[in-house]
Amino acid sequence: MPATRIRITDLKAKKQRGEKITMLTAYDAMMAGIFDQSGIDALLVGDSVGMVMLGHNSTLPVTLDDMVHHTAAVSRGSARALVVADMPFLTYQASIAEAVRSAGRLLKEGNAAAVKIEGGRPVVDVVKRLVEVGIPVMGHLGVLPQSVNQMGGYSQQGTEPQQAEKIIADAILLAESGVFSIVLESIPGELARVITERVNIPTIGIGAGPDCDGQVLVYSDMLGLGGPAVPPFAKQYVNLGDVIKSAARAYIEDVESGRYPSHVRPTQVTIAK
Ligand code: KIV
Repeated sequence: MPATRIRITDLKAKKQRGEKITMLTAYDAMMAGIFDQSGIDALLVGDSVGMVMLGHNSTLPVTLDDMVHHTAAVSRGSARALVVADMPFLTYQASIAEAVRSAGRLLKEGNAAAVKIEGGRPVVDVVKRLVEVGIPVMGHLGVLPQSVNQMGGYSQQGTEPQQAEKIIADAILLAESGVFSIVLESIPGELARVITERVNIPTIGIGAGPDCDGQVLVYSDMLGLGGPAVPPFAKQYVNLGDVIKSAARAYIEDVESGRYPSHVRPTQVTIAK
């Protein structure tokens, strides 16, 4: 009997009970399986896949085909967590019809349970239509990586009162439009606390302080696989980069010295002369 997946209603119930929601990014079946077995609530197939896995220097080049491919792998590798897929840049902005078709592929081919889109007021009509056709939507406010050129970088948002008010208004608008949750990226903790209090849907923070209803991290940052550009708010729980490098060095030495594979007893075979 397959495990029952966590649903968006379970996340809302967690907020009501005051229980924290846990989310990590995942991009393939292997990591999805490990996080799923650890008991994570939700897996985000972020368009950060472009930077973490595909070697791009922003999320902008990520295509819908990339996201479908990685989302399907994460869905196959997990049994319990809610799978949320990012809609990549320019798959939901040009028209509502295109947004519905793009999101539909992430559910039909990727087997995601929900999609995430970036922005406030400009995406409200898209959110409403997706929700109307039965596609759960997670919002994303604060630092919007798909707008990196417009924002001039990834620096913290909402630090000026006017900007903070706008983010609060956008959060309320998104909640009223039907998103089931909102990611708050890189905003002051006090602003995230106010938003979390004012909306009745879960907020998931990343660099947004401790008062959100849940937290999400890009897993390469948390596992020490992220290279030098790890954001200051990310907590590194292990340095897998170093662990993997020393395992690889040991393997290289073993092969070069003949120690590997000599530890395996060879299968006896008689070869006719
Ligand atoms: O793409 C991603 O990994 C994200 C997180 C930063 C929330 O959107």
